[in-house]
Amino acid sequence: MKKIEIKSTLTVYSGVDELPAEVTALMAHAVRSRAMAYAPYSRFQVGAALLLDNGEVVCGNNQENAAFPSGLCAERVAVFHAGATFPDAVIKAVAICAASLDFRVKDAVAPCGACRQALAEYEYRQKSPVAVYFMGDNTEVYHSPSVRELLPLVFTEKSLLQK
Ligand code: THU
Repeated sequence: MKKIEIKSTLTVYSGVDELPAEVTALMAHAVRSRAMAYAPYSRFQVGAALLLDNGEVVCGNNQENAAFPSGLCAERVAVFHAGATFPDAVIKAVAICAASLDFRVKDAVAPCGACRQALAEYEYRQKSPVAVYFMGDNTEVYHSPSVRELLPLVFTEKSLLQK
């Protein structure tokens, strides 16, 4: 028997103004995208913006469905859009923000587990980290240097390869 310890180190910025200028701009894209979310059921709107190494910014927001599981989170809408449009680009960073139509989201909202797994696939594929920034409704901004940091013991293609 042995024990393993898993540690993650995140940075917390007090607000968007404290971020590096490039990330402040990226978060502004996420906020604009969030306002266009289709979330009539949860009334919880999420926006995501990806910065690519070719300078492009690719955005997404949550798209809900009357058949609830058929909807998709903002992060996956954005990363699948980026993968479909710029398959060879490297994703440098993703900015994520959440807001409710009914209350103020006072804490930073981290990407859900399924979105971490989806983002991790691209990070693994491009062999370089994707910086993750996330906040609530104009709140503190959490920064993780990679998706991996948010998803230890990630599932990758390595598990599918025969040894
Ligand atoms: N949602 C996201 O878009 N991203 C997340 O990481 C968590 C949740 C969306 C899904 C659903 O439309 C709404 O927020 C409430 O769960």
